[in-house]
Amino acid sequence: MTGAPDSLSVSEVEGALRTFYVGHPFAHFRSIDSTQNMVAAAGIRHEPEGLTVSADEQTAGRGRFKRTWVSPPGGSILMSVLLRPSPETLPFVVMIAALAVRDVIIHAVPGLEPEIKWPNDILLNGRKTCGILVETTRDEPANTFSVLGMGVNVNWDTASVPEIAEVSTSLGRESGRFVPRVSVMVPLLERLERLYEDAKEGDDIRGRWRDSLITLGRDVVVGGSDTEIEGTAEDVDETGALQVRDRLGTLHTVRAGDVTLKG
Ligand code: BTN
Repeated sequence: MTGAPDSLSVSEVEGALRTFYVGHPFAHFRSIDSTQNMVAAAGIRHEPEGLTVSADEQTAGRGRFKRTWVSPPGGSILMSVLLRPSPETLPFVVMIAALAVRDVIIHAVPGLEPEIKWPNDILLNGRKTCGILVETTRDEPANTFSVLGMGVNVNWDTASVPEIAEVSTSLGRESGRFVPRVSVMVPLLERLERLYEDAKEGDDIRGRWRDSLITLGRDVVVGGSDTEIEGTAEDVDETGALQVRDRLGTLHTVRAGDVTLKG
């Protein structure tokens, strides 16, 4: 499961990919600082949406709240996609990414039961196997773009990194099998395009995502931003913000944060 060679080539991905624009063009690097940076640079150059960059290794991979994203070379899908959502579609980008990763894991690795924890962590048996980061830039009025970054732990033993051993896992660790990265990456790009098109056409993406969250109805502690809130996660609002009612009955609307599930 760990340390298995899993080369990923541009021709292999391009040969298998059945999309109109997501994953086109596709570039893969052995080592890069962050796929987010490479795609943001393409956004500034006015490249069209769909452009995708992946890497075996990131020397400065980043997560939400400026955290470092840890992954040994070749063990993960580390990928960023350039999107140019309208203001109406922008709130759905994190949601379609979470739904796409969840759907693809179910089909690509039979037996696994991924869950979505608000806002977009993908869990397997309570541990995180994928992180999603959406960074939106308004470079100039006519050039607004989002970089959708996804880090999926595939074939490495997250127990080998003490800081994340308890809270993280991988597809290989949970399934006990070697999972070729291409068998997840290609359907993931395809599912992303499908759901992004659904979002543009006005489908109820928020409803699909809301119905998939394991967070609602649970007692939670929300940290990560300035204050910590403890209460019951009641719902998500129109924008996807989490609504948490504390013990005094006050309803808090949380736009960004890290949720710990309590009950
Ligand atoms: C999170 O904090 O959960 C989000 C993690 C996002 C990591 C991915 S890996 C590919 C892309 N490049 C980065 O530097 N970050 C994202």
